[in-house]
Amino acid sequence: MSSIVVKQIEGLLEEKDQIAALSNISACINQNYDNLNWAGFYLVKNGELVLGPFQGKVACTHIPFDKGVCGLTYRTKQTQRVDDVLAHQDHIACDADSRSELCVPILVNEECVAMIDLDAPIKSRFTEQEEKEMQQAANLISTYWIQYQW
Ligand code: SME
Repeated sequence: MSSIVVKQIEGLLEEKDQIAALSNISACINQNYDNLNWAGFYLVKNGELVLGPFQGKVACTHIPFDKGVCGLTYRTKQTQRVDDVLAHQDHIACDADSRSELCVPILVNEECVAMIDLDAPIKSRFTEQEEKEMQQAANLISTYWIQYQW
């Protein structure tokens, strides 16, 4: 059973243009989840992570694979749910207000091609249910990534 946010994301994936679709998905997540200060994507390009469509303050534009929660997500291909970013040695603070983070890899043929990254200004903001929803969203994006040849 898909939640409302996942159903909305599935609808938004009818859009075939990558920037248009991912832009609306970042807006959709930001509208559905309260207490976020950043919601968006990093895309794997030319051996690093590059800022994709997002909602929120100005953010880091390039992240090496060996840096940050995003780099860790890339290397492990595993979701990172960080309850306290200040206690996480890898965390990169794009916004000094951030206190917790959820980063979910988008895998295509077992390779990480992008990630959904969410930041919150309060500790332990993200629930297990939201982690599952974002993993479902990542799986849907992966399916369309292949279909639309992104
Ligand atoms: N906090 C991330 C960097 C990206 S911003 O949160 C938008 C990290 O540690 O990789």
